[in-house]
Amino acid sequence: NKNVIILGIETSCDETSAAVLANGTDLKSHIISSQIGTHQKYGGVVPEIASREHCLHISQVVAEALGQAGMGFKDLSAVAVTYGPGLVGSLLVGVSAAKAMAYAADIPLIGVNHLEGHVYANFLEHPDLRFPLLALLASGGHTNLIIFRGHLDYEVIGRTRDDAAGEAFDKVARALGFGYPGGPNIQKAAFEGNAAAFDFPRAMLETGSFDFSFSGLKSSVLNTLNSARMKGEVLNTADLAASFQAAVVEVLVQKTLRALEKYPVKTLALAGGVAANSNLRQALQQELDHRGISFVYPSPIYCTDNGAMIALAGYYRFMNDDYASWKLNAVPGLNL
Ligand code: KG4
Ligand code: ZN
Repeated sequence: NKNVIILGIETSCDETSAAVLANGTDLKSHIISSQIGTHQKYGGVVPEIASREHCLHISQVVAEALGQAGMGFKDLSAVAVTYGPGLVGSLLVGVSAAKAMAYAADIPLIGVNHLEGHVYANFLEHPDLRFPLLALLASGGHTNLIIFRGHLDYEVIGRTRDDAAGEAFDKVARALGFGYPGGPNIQKAAFEGNAAAFDFPRAMLETGSFDFSFSGLKSSVLNTLNSARMKGEVLNTADLAASFQAAVVEVLVQKTLRALEKYPVKTLALAGGVAANSNLRQALQQELDHRGISFVYPSPIYCTDNGAMIALAGYYRFMNDDYASWKLNAVPGLNL
């Protein structure tokens, strides 16, 4: 049997997800059990509740993924699991479950970096994607520009110095009275707003830097809201959302273009939860079309946390015989 069948497991934050992937291209099944409804009433993810929810759902989610694929543990080549970065309690549930399954089935265990997984989400729908490529990863916890020279061969050229892009979306959304997660709600409100209504700062940092900073922008929105409140003024929420979103998008786009000048690759791959933002996609598409650079991004379901991307990143580790030991632990602060 030459087929390589990977079970991918993701539990780093508030999604319990499992997927079965054959030969790095053929997604046999994909189950995502989201806890968003549970955390919404607290305005964000409550770590203790998240790990308990993962415990309650992990077995069922894996059973459904195997069932939908028409497979059992005996058909698997390996179990790949996110071991960081993320919430330690949440990660531990996935890591422990994956270890138990791989050990019982007598197959390799593979540890996957969640951030690599996000970038690999692009290969699910574009298996023919060529290297070298530039990846813009913007999620709830990270904002990175990464040069990929080959599979799992990459260099981080830019990172956020404070808040991540998604974190800024979530914090501003909360201040505007939207629920969690903030990104989709800001995008929705922004459709009705005027992006030029407020002139929020765009931190471009020193010349030549590919780093990001979003905390100044976040503070500027919060200060604008507070001073209006003190004066008894009511600001237009849609205008605030649109102006904030425009500032984030402009910084992400300009930094990406700057990186493409120094690293003249032919492809940009967008990844992470913020990659689901349609304004960001449109702005990048427009700029990259002008420059003849091809642009790929995952479908929204593969932008946010999912097991399919973990199975795919795990597939490439498997092909390199890059197995984890039975001592694999959760690493909440794991970096690229
Ligand atoms: O990648 P992800 O699901 O989880 C992490 O690994 O962090 O990203 C979640 C982040 C949240 O901050 C959420 O607000 C943001 O992605 N997000 C969006 C959109 N959809 C999700 N941000 C902007 N626009 C969206 N449409
Ligand atoms: Zn993520």
